[in-house]
Amino acid sequence: MRNYISHRVQTVPPSGIRRFFDIVATMKDVISLGIGEPDFVTPTPIMRAGIASLERGETGYTSNSGTLELRQAVARNLQRMYQVTYNPDNEILITVGVSEALYLALMALLDPGDEVIVPQPCFVAYTAEVMFASGVPVPIATRVEDNFQVTAEEIERSITPRTKALLIGYPNNPTGAVMSRENLIQIGQLAEKHDLIVISDEIYDRLVYGGEHVCFAALPGMRDRTILLSGWSKNYAMTGWRLGYAAAPPDILNAMRKVHQYTIMSAPTTAQMAGIEAMDNGEKFVQDMVAEYDRRRKMLVSGLNTLGLDCFEPKGAFYAFPSVAKSGMDDEHFAELLLQEEKVAVVPGSAFGASGKGFVRLAYATAYEKLEEALNRMGSFMRRHG
Ligand SMILES: Cc1ncc(COP(=O)(O)O)c(C=O)c1O
Repeated sequence: MRNYISHRVQTVPPSGIRRFFDIVATMKDVISLGIGEPDFVTPTPIMRAGIASLERGETGYTSNSGTLELRQAVARNLQRMYQVTYNPDNEILITVGVSEALYLALMALLDPGDEVIVPQPCFVAYTAEVMFASGVPVPIATRVEDNFQVTAEEIERSITPRTKALLIGYPNNPTGAVMSRENLIQIGQLAEKHDLIVISDEIYDRLVYGGEHVCFAALPGMRDRTILLSGWSKNYAMTGWRLGYAAAPPDILNAMRKVHQYTIMSAPTTAQMAGIEAMDNGEKFVQDMVAEYDRRRKMLVSGLNTLGLDCFEPKGAFYAFPSVAKSGMDDEHFAELLLQEEKVAVVPGSAFGASGKGFVRLAYATAYEKLEEALNRMGSFMRRHG
């Protein structure tokens, strides 16, 4: 039989995370720090808003764009948080998570061969999604010495006549890096100079520890060249509800909506109803979760540094990204041996791009006690291999 699979799909490598977690799934008593997902259950009032919607019999589709009520709640939230104004009628689209919003943005923007600059290490879907949309991902390495921030200078070196967009995600998965306002302003000026669109994935915007999150669209002159992506999964512990949004100028949003209406129709109705409650009344719960993540973050990062697994201080999201240099192993070998010998699952940094080599990602969206136990096990491991 001939190979029916499209060249486009064949050329995208399988996710390094998937392969690893297929192994984890076959083992017992593993402490998994591998999954980038809140361990909290969705706060009760948000959950109840979804249940109430079902009980009212709201089991049909919504408008393609998402309910106007939810788009208005998103617009209010962006205004309140970042003083950036979006028109809920034609500048906000409700999607099936940021995952779908990212797909739509790339489908709407890219012609075959268009280049998208992607600082790495980054969320595993970025380069794959660019390729699915027939674009060419152009990775830029970020380094621990620069706190894993990308600079305008480095980006400029990678710009060619085919560059159409820059895809950034801060607070960052997997490093926990947060970008400084000055760096982002310079990147904005560069985008203006070269007439680039900036896709800014701000799904972890509320999970910052001490510092500020700078919304890219709120920077001077940036609103009209930004596709802002965000959602509910991480901030409100709602990964399974599958809800996200894109905010963009009307012409781009219109193109994204065209792809969305043919492929998805509308985001889950129950989730949209819960999403309104989250945006309007979820603040207290966000604060509580951030306080708990912060407690875990401090303990984990200091524990890793004590073991000699040098860890840059993550300022956002819920990941620590220590170097495994002291073990003398590369990140893949380290992760495999740690899993086999101590039953602790972490993700090799190279799964997030070549510049993640030599690091591993640990998610601290896991109970404090489990993190302590994981550190104990890693301590035994490092005594043997350090
Ligand atoms: C940076 C980043 N963007 C997007 C997503 C996808 O999120 P969603 O659940 O909204 O599709 C994730 C999930 O891990 C992520 O880490």
